[in-house]
Amino acid sequence: MAKEREKKLYVAILGNYAAELKLLLTTLLLLCVLATFLQFLPSRFTISASDLRFCISRVTQTTPPNATSSSPPIIKSSLTSLPPSPSPPLPPPPSEQLLAGGIIKRSFNPYGSAAYNFITMGAYRGGLNTFAIIGLASKPLHLFAKPTYLCEWVSSAGKNSTAAGYKILPDWGYGRVYTVVIVNCTFPEPLNADNSGGKLVLYASTSGGGDASFNITDRIEALIEQPGTLDTSLFTSKPKYDYLYCGSSLYGNLNPQRVREWIAYHVKFFGPRSHFVIHDAGGVHEKVLEVLKPWMELGYVTLQDIKDQERFDGYYHNQFMVVNDCLHRYKFMAKWMFFFDVDEYIYVPPKSTIKSVLDSLSEFSQFTIEQMPMSSKLCLTSDYGKTYRRWGFEKLVYKDSKKGIRRDRKYAVQPRSLFATGVHMSQNLAGKTTHKTEGKIMYYHYHGTIAEKRETCKILINSTETAYEKTPYVLDTTMRDIAGVIKKFELRMIGDRLQKTRQ
Ligand SMILES: *[C@@H]1O[C@H](CO)[C@@H](O)[C@H](O)[C@H]1NC(C)=O
Ligand SMILES: *[C@@H]1O[C@H](CO)[C@@H](O)[C@H](O)[C@H]1NC(C)=O
Ligand SMILES: *[C@@H]1O[C@H](CO)[C@@H](O)[C@H](O)[C@H]1NC(C)=O
Ligand SMILES: *[C@@H]1O[C@H](CO)[C@@H](O)[C@H](O)[C@H]1NC(C)=O
Ligand SMILES: *[C@@H]1O[C@H](CO)[C@@H](O)[C@H](O)[C@H]1NC(C)=O
Repeated sequence: MAKEREKKLYVAILGNYAAELKLLLTTLLLLCVLATFLQFLPSRFTISASDLRFCISRVTQTTPPNATSSSPPIIKSSLTSLPPSPSPPLPPPPSEQLLAGGIIKRSFNPYGSAAYNFITMGAYRGGLNTFAIIGLASKPLHLFAKPTYLCEWVSSAGKNSTAAGYKILPDWGYGRVYTVVIVNCTFPEPLNADNSGGKLVLYASTSGGGDASFNITDRIEALIEQPGTLDTSLFTSKPKYDYLYCGSSLYGNLNPQRVREWIAYHVKFFGPRSHFVIHDAGGVHEKVLEVLKPWMELGYVTLQDIKDQERFDGYYHNQFMVVNDCLHRYKFMAKWMFFFDVDEYIYVPPKSTIKSVLDSLSEFSQFTIEQMPMSSKLCLTSDYGKTYRRWGFEKLVYKDSKKGIRRDRKYAVQPRSLFATGVHMSQNLAGKTTHKTEGKIMYYHYHGTIAEKRETCKILINSTETAYEKTPYVLDTTMRDIAGVIKKFELRMIGDRLQKTRQ
């Protein structure tokens, strides 16, 4: 066990050096070619060996091109403190060995690099003395060892403080190569109170695990506050929005018409004090962007390009890192935050409004929302010949009425009470959670329609109930009945620029 880990770490070290090694070797090769070529030139052009050495030493000192550097957080790996001389070439992999007793000993020969110790997505303040750092970390490291986190505030005024960071693993059990980690850094006193600036540094230590002699620490500058930029009134003032939607990662070949319907519906539903944060993990192609554009221009939608997360293999396009980043990024901007998908439609019955329902739930930090599962295939006979002109939630009117099934729920939270958000709901929060919201608020779920480009109606029915593939369905025209209002609303808000949008 201990041996194994030692080897793993050794490989990690080699892996980190691979890029530099490659650059070095390429440069050496070029120099050799140049030197060979120069031999054939008149003597005044020759260069001495010492010149070459000079070149080579310059090359070794040059940092590799910043091909992967993207955003401010600067990750300075502790591995760079190892001697800079290139490692000797790996010995050839040992072949099979015949042991005494006729046992064949097999060997395993790793190449390439192991998982990173930590990958940051964002770091945010949660108050005068507390921060959350959102990122990914190697899942095997968390599974087989106990990595530790130390937070340090480096103040421009010269007074540093440290605090132990405690980690929250919101997608534990779902992680793949990487698992989502929220590091909560809470210090004993307010930081940057004089607004002179400073930075939050995270020391992420692998802390041995099986072999305590290996304890590699990476120093990560997670957050930098320039002098005069901290506005502490944010933490106590009324939020800018009443409702904020934190969307999970969008990917795949999305149907632009479905996205058009979804955004028009929800802007109407949540109203002028709402905002939508959409995360593009590759799903927002040109036609989808076209339907989001008008709402972005009106200030309702923020689009975040997170396509680079695909380099790090986590659960479901890293959606739990993404929603936790959204939670902490917008924590003080919204009274309520909603987490659901773009094939789901939040609904409250007539006579109530989203405001009246949420006011009645204001004592709770979190509540869950019941699902209304809709068929993606059954439509009305009366729509024959015009299904292609109908909107998705207008034509899909048959609700799965099977009883006694546990269905997924969605949830909404008051973000100021949350420390992290989880797979089906948050389990790291202050305050109460309720599930008793049936009949008050629900969501219509049109599973399997969002990436479907062909006509979704497959079977036309003229009946208030039916059975299809052994599942009972009942007619529910709640959403169909408000389609007209939503279409008029869209036209009024953004004009006719999306009228030509099709599947
Ligand atoms: C490297 O970073 C610098 C400054 O951050 C930038 O100007 C330059 O274009 C970057 N180079 C590459 C190859 O990305
Ligand atoms: C970190 O945890 C503490 C205690 O659980 C909590 O009060 C604080 O709000 C958290 N900070 C963030 C940024 O979530
Ligand atoms: C604060 O921390 C920084 C970086 O870790 C260090 O360079 C500096 O000397 C420290 N200052 C004090 C007063 O300890
Ligand atoms: C590893 O190093 C860090 C930072 O120096 C330290 O906080 C931690 O306790 C160490 N872990 C072990 C198991 O020694
Ligand atoms: C639906 O059925 C009713 C009675 O069974 C019939 O009167 C009506 O014409 C049918 N509608 C369509 C569109 O087929």
